[in-house]
Amino acid sequence: MPIQPNFLERTAFFTLNAAPGPMLDLAGALALQAVNTAVQLNIFTTLAERPSTPTELAQTLNCQERGLEKLLAALAAIGYVVERDGRYHNSAMTNKWFLHGEMLDMKAALLIFDTFFRELWPHAPEVVRSGERPYNFYDFTASTPGLSHAHQTMMQSNANLVGTTIVKKVALPETASRLLDVGGGHGQFTIHFCQAHPRLTATIMDSEAALETAQQNLDAAHLNDRIDLYAADLWHAAWGTEWDAILLFNLLHHYDLETNHKLLQKAHAALKPGGKVAIFDQVAGKQFGSATNAIVQLVGLMYYLFADGRIFTRNELTDLLTNTGFKNIQFHPMRQAPGSSLLVAEK
Ligand SMILES: C[S@@+](CC[C@H](N)C(=O)[O-])C[C@H]1O[C@@H](n2cnc3c(N)ncnc32)[C@H](O)[C@@H]1O
Repeated sequence: MPIQPNFLERTAFFTLNAAPGPMLDLAGALALQAVNTAVQLNIFTTLAERPSTPTELAQTLNCQERGLEKLLAALAAIGYVVERDGRYHNSAMTNKWFLHGEMLDMKAALLIFDTFFRELWPHAPEVVRSGERPYNFYDFTASTPGLSHAHQTMMQSNANLVGTTIVKKVALPETASRLLDVGGGHGQFTIHFCQAHPRLTATIMDSEAALETAQQNLDAAHLNDRIDLYAADLWHAAWGTEWDAILLFNLLHHYDLETNHKLLQKAHAALKPGGKVAIFDQVAGKQFGSATNAIVQLVGLMYYLFADGRIFTRNELTDLLTNTGFKNIQFHPMRQAPGSSLLVAEK
């Protein structure tokens, strides 16, 4: 964790309430700005190529040395870089999570969050007061240049983090040959399934804008001949029938329970007998740690503010599946994606 109070500080901030705990949130906001500045200045990629003194870095990046010294000192204090013998290096955390974007694209995440902080969060008090939103989140995402692609890039790196585990847990039979990924966006989950199951073909249904990212990924994975892209609104489109599996990943949090019941009815009707539906999403309720709980609650607030979305409990999701006629429901918490779980059920 970037800002880590030590034992004495935790006692002062949390146990005794003798120091101002909210200062840590202000510092967290400053930390995010510092990291964002570092990303925009290419500090992490530059240090990955060559650990540098502030003087060397100032020359390479064409920056003022004094400003860089301040930025590097701040980044060192929050664990993003380390100083050894006068040279700055990326920390192991930065190397893993900032430079290997295929696992979790923090650059895309920062770009999106930065846009949300500037454009959407300022409306939060009026949304909480009135329940009305002066924007349509989906139109906003589609009409802001670069935002849809950045969103899909962030989601696809998240998919790469958990994709292999999810494919194993969904455990499609060898005979499975047809998969439908509803709201599949970037397509990376479908790609993981097709790579693991050579006989599988698939269709990804999503908006035209989202599927532009999917097309790039299909080209890179050489899977155009096995995966179709279906640009459609899932509520108006025909889903077809006789699917072996249907993925509903990070989709249910857009809708209320009643609407999700309709979503699952559509999935049930489109699956063949014995076919599997898989839901991957944040799940509300008791979490295994307080940081995970905070992530789920904060993300849940964001879903509400942006699109009147919500995060459901395990019981709500299980009831939803049962009431739609699904059986053999399995629940798998996914530790790599804090707060998210996978549910798999059969028609
Ligand atoms: C949060 S993203 C999840 C993407 C991917 N399934 C994943 O888990 O990484 C939700 C996706 O649902 C798509 N979506 C939302 N409403 C939709 C609708 N009515 N018809 C088709 N796609 C929709 C969005 O375009 C977006 O790509």
